[in-house]
Amino acid sequence: MTSANKASIVILISGRGSNMKSIVEAIKTGSLDTNVAAVISNRPDAAGLDYAKQENIPTAVIDHKQFASRELFDQAMAKEIDSYTPNLVVLAGFMRILTTEFVEHFAGKLINIHPALLPKFKGLNTHQRAIDAGEKEHGASVHIVTPELDDGPVVLQARVPVLDDDTADTLAARVLEQEHSLYPRAIAQLITENK
Ligand code: GAR
Repeated sequence: MTSANKASIVILISGRGSNMKSIVEAIKTGSLDTNVAAVISNRPDAAGLDYAKQENIPTAVIDHKQFASRELFDQAMAKEIDSYTPNLVVLAGFMRILTTEFVEHFAGKLINIHPALLPKFKGLNTHQRAIDAGEKEHGASVHIVTPELDDGPVVLQARVPVLDDDTADTLAARVLEQEHSLYPRAIAQLITENK
């Protein structure tokens, strides 16, 4: 694609935003050919917003606490995202459960990174649950979002060993390092497939 019609993405975050940062860095180093149209957070204090601003990426906050219902929050979020007409909507540590209406509105264009080897360990506390289950291998998955939580088709996975002395924190750090190369690769693959 030429720069005029380059695929664009909107990234949704809730906190630290290290995955969002790894995507922006992959674009800067030339390994990912896309444009980040906006970074949107549901939390005004999300640390990742500062990085996006530093990089001159448009940012927006849609604070879920300002909405009477999940439906109204998701409608406001969808309207904001639509204003950027992205090719992909990238959930990067976005910690809100999404309504079916929202997911269907972005069907096939909405992706998520989950810190486990799906279909294992959907939901929260994935690293501790992997240790408690005696897993020898753990990792992260990029998947297409469908209405069921952490359930859509897997695009790419990265695997790490679980070590005998791992805590949830040491395992999370090992997985996160992999997430940072996995997500840009998965986005590049989807953009190429959708050309
Ligand atoms: C990442 O480990 C991501 O996989 C996880 O939250 C972290 C966000 O970190 N996502 C989920 O648990 C989604 N249910 P980041 O804000 O530094 O990218």
